[in-house]
Amino acid sequence: MKDHLKVPATSTLVLKYSGEIYHSEKEQAYLQNLTYSEITELAAEINKTCPPLGEMIVLRKYAVRRFLEYWLSNGKFQVCILAAGAEPLSAYLTTHLHKNIIHIFEIDRGHLDLKKELYQQLDIDSSNISFIQQDLRDTGTFWNNLVQHGYDPAQPTLITCEGLLPYIGNEDFVKILKLFMTHGKQNKVIFDSAIDINSVREFNQTYHQGILDIMCKFINGDINNNSRNTILELLQQLQPENIVVETMAEIELKIRGRQTTFHETGDGLEEMVSLDL
Ligand SMILES: C[S@@+](CC[C@H](N)C(=O)[O-])C[C@H]1O[C@@H](n2cnc3c(N)ncnc32)[C@H](O)[C@@H]1O
Repeated sequence: MKDHLKVPATSTLVLKYSGEIYHSEKEQAYLQNLTYSEITELAAEINKTCPPLGEMIVLRKYAVRRFLEYWLSNGKFQVCILAAGAEPLSAYLTTHLHKNIIHIFEIDRGHLDLKKELYQQLDIDSSNISFIQQDLRDTGTFWNNLVQHGYDPAQPTLITCEGLLPYIGNEDFVKILKLFMTHGKQNKVIFDSAIDINSVREFNQTYHQGILDIMCKFINGDINNNSRNTILELLQQLQPENIVVETMAEIELKIRGRQTTFHETGDGLEEMVSLDL
């Protein structure tokens, strides 16, 4: 797969839709301080071609938040935010869910200096956050870097990988998650997986392909998309427990109490997957 020079900009795109998720004063100030000029054209094209993308991103973020809230109300964890990008998830966690967080590790190959600076400027507490600039595919240096920043493999860990799998290959993804395997399955992972066209209702295939094409053109590379079966087979390499796959329609029902935008399996470009490692 090509090296996607424009992938970090997709993080800003995601945040353009995240106002509903981040509504405290500091979180709003953070979002307003980001530069959106690089993705203005892309966002306009998306709004014209496939307006439900914004809702999918919001639901994805709610699914991740629900996962973190659930586990952090059940015990103490380290939190690894893989492909953290510009998202202020760690700001939310340190403000609202800090009690059971041992330490937060944000990892991304771009963006993080700027984010750290912005946290400082906005007086967002980052004393319990390590910002690690790192290509995750380089698993040897990633692991050393993580441990050097204080990661303790013996402590239970929550791992979020939001917006990562669509930009890297399946084998790279599994190689990264293998690092977090434990005998007691004490680590919990959540990630989003873009769905392949054959898993989408015929009625929605043009829309689905349209958004994939727009994203591929923007990043000048491929968007990795898979059937659910491919993902489940892939995950077997990790000997996981408690795999849960949720469609956007199911998440919409849980979060909104109704299904207005997404109705069936395959609607909404992505599915969310969680598992114990
Ligand atoms: C779509 S953004 C998602 C950002 C954030 N998780 C969110 O949902 O708002 C994708 C992020 O993945 C990061 N990324 C992609 N490939 C990566 C790699 N090989 N190593 C580290 N980060 C990577 C990009 O830099 C970018 O910030």
